[in-house]
Amino acid sequence: MSTYPEQQIPADPERGAQVSRDDRAHVFHSWSAQALINPLPIAGASGSHFWDFEGKRYLDFSSQLVNVNIGYQHPKLVAAIQEAAARQCTIAPSFADESRSEAARLIAGLAPGTLNRVFFTNGGAEATENAMRMARLHTGRHKVLTAYRSYHGATAGAITATGDPRRWPSEPGMSGIVHFWGPYPYRSAFHSDSDAQECERALQHLDDVLMVEGAQHVAAIIIETVVGTNGILVPPDGYLQGIRDRCDRHGIMMICDEVMAGFGRCGEWFAFQKWGVQPDLVCFAKGVNSGYIPLGGVVISDKVSATFRDRVYPGGLTYSGHPLACASAVASINIFKEEGIIEHARSLGADVIAPGLEKLKANHPSVGDVRGLGVFWAIELVKNRVTREPMVPYNAAGPDAKPMQELLAACKSKGLWPFTHFNRLHVTPPCTTTADQIEEGLAIIDEALTITDQYVTD
Ligand SMILES: Cc1ncc(COP(=O)(O)O)c(C=O)c1O
Repeated sequence: MSTYPEQQIPADPERGAQVSRDDRAHVFHSWSAQALINPLPIAGASGSHFWDFEGKRYLDFSSQLVNVNIGYQHPKLVAAIQEAAARQCTIAPSFADESRSEAARLIAGLAPGTLNRVFFTNGGAEATENAMRMARLHTGRHKVLTAYRSYHGATAGAITATGDPRRWPSEPGMSGIVHFWGPYPYRSAFHSDSDAQECERALQHLDDVLMVEGAQHVAAIIIETVVGTNGILVPPDGYLQGIRDRCDRHGIMMICDEVMAGFGRCGEWFAFQKWGVQPDLVCFAKGVNSGYIPLGGVVISDKVSATFRDRVYPGGLTYSGHPLACASAVASINIFKEEGIIEHARSLGADVIAPGLEKLKANHPSVGDVRGLGVFWAIELVKNRVTREPMVPYNAAGPDAKPMQELLAACKSKGLWPFTHFNRLHVTPPCTTTADQIEEGLAIIDEALTITDQYVTD
């Protein structure tokens, strides 16, 4: 593993105050009521830490938006971007560019089977948007099936495909999107009591949805291979293969959204590789270059790309395959290989995070469930382990969300920056985090969980 630059943490509160003033006066933030937020001004970052202008340092258990898989300021990645910038900052997508060609070759080389071509985008939403468009044009069908408890991005089609409350204000959205329930053993929509039963019943439910929607009208089934923000829901063995079988049976395109789950997060290049399935289209972004420069894309199977051999693909972006972004992806993939980052993430999950979270579950009555793989884990908090009543209601905000807000504040005050969503705390550090750093973060969570324990009812 590389050594990250020596951490310079110059306290400079005046500069921080200026950053805040400009931010509050001029920056319009995503997903926020502008007057109700107070974004922390950030002075710098290195490895698995970032720090503010007061000199306070945070161990990052969120990887920002679960995207900084390689850690901050990886020296070789920064150097590669500097070299690429000196060579060629920009060129239109219509040209053949060295960094773009190489990034596409490397990504196609990581993907199995006939996933041989890459359409580059600026991020995840554009990837899911284009994957759905490709599936519709390829099949000549209109409907897209997508799961509740999912997130696929915030552009028109992607937010319609999303199965969580972020979709509600954008409704009505794109026509032809149909939601179904995926597996979630801890809160089964199917009243199952084992992973195997959950898998079987979830697939039976999918068959029912296909029947009533008319499978012959369905272009694609899009799923997050491992559901991210909506709970780190690892599919039971057999579920992905079950989707693949149904797609084959009905001529439907299987789209795996690996925007969050891919590039090391699950201890694999692509999470679906863990289950040996082969999607028709794969969406990626985030971990492909850890967001050092915005990049996403769709990996396309030969059968889908053949549709557009003699027929125009009606989609594009000014910055599709941006040379700097692609050069950073090339460098990042090579660093992952050289430093064994995928293997490191996998063993952190199995050897450090899994046993650490089991210990938290044993010690804290507010911990209902822990689950995940690689560096992709959730601690699901409940008021009552028997009834499984969530620590806060679904989509809680304001006073309803108080126990989770207090938990978050306690972690931050002790120098840990976790990712919380609804009644869950997610453990999603960079893939390059050390075992000692994981232990350090889990010790902080251990202390902070005494807060949610106080809300437990008998
Ligand atoms: C699974 C998944 N798909 C798509 C997206 C959208 O990606 P972006 O925010 O880069 O548009 C996200 C973002 O969190 C995601 O987690």
